[in-house]
Amino acid sequence: MIDVHCHLNFESFKKDSDAAIKRALSQGVRSIINVGTKIDSSQKAVELSEEYDELYAIVGVHPHHADKPGENWIQNLEELAKNKKVVAIGEVGLDYFKYLSNGIVEPKVQKEVFEKQIELAHRLNLPLQIHNRHAGEDIIEILKHHKNILRDAPGMFHCFAGSMEILRGALDLGFYIGFDGNITYKGLPPGESVSLPDIAKATPIDRIVTETDSPFLTPEPHRGTRNEPAYVIIVGNFIAEIKSLTFEEVRDQTTQNAMDLFGI
Ligand code: NI
Repeated sequence: MIDVHCHLNFESFKKDSDAAIKRALSQGVRSIINVGTKIDSSQKAVELSEEYDELYAIVGVHPHHADKPGENWIQNLEELAKNKKVVAIGEVGLDYFKYLSNGIVEPKVQKEVFEKQIELAHRLNLPLQIHNRHAGEDIIEILKHHKNILRDAPGMFHCFAGSMEILRGALDLGFYIGFDGNITYKGLPPGESVSLPDIAKATPIDRIVTETDSPFLTPEPHRGTRNEPAYVIIVGNFIAEIKSLTFEEVRDQTTQNAMDLFGI
């Protein structure tokens, strides 16, 4: 299996990222992709990817940080993205959820930063890894508007949540759909009207990729502890159950999907 989105580059893995990587690899995880959310964490993701054959990096400015991406951020990002181990631009997109810590960054500012990174992905011929929270309609509209510069395999929606209509919009544009440990949680994702298992049922298996978003979104039965890439196997098992497939079928197909999308 492949964990296409996690954050071993974040503070909570500072002391033991090596142990977490080795646990995942020893349990059959083939590759791990660490994702940046601003310039410094993107740089850290690139550095980690250079230390292990099985690690890759995705670099970008998350919508939370769109109001302060830093000086010359797009040039700095472009430099980082030229590294051989960088496989996409992300996590980029829009986030209209009101977090207690920082509220919502002005949507207009988020859109500008998102569009600059769509153009960057085009210049470097890299796929996009999209972050969407309560902003699916605007994201689909922006992507449609940039359709002529999207790749044939344009990217993936990370940690998908949203309506069936947004799912259809993403699939029609050629995007892959990522599922995380929160697919094991009971009930609806906060603020959404469709459950994640229902979204997974409606997504063809040849368009699904698996992820953990470690250290966040720990799957059951480990919820309440720190998440780690080895738990992507739990996500695979859960998807197999939902879609009445064997674990091996889900493992092989989602691994192939990630290899095709990211060229790894
Ligand atoms: Ni993330």
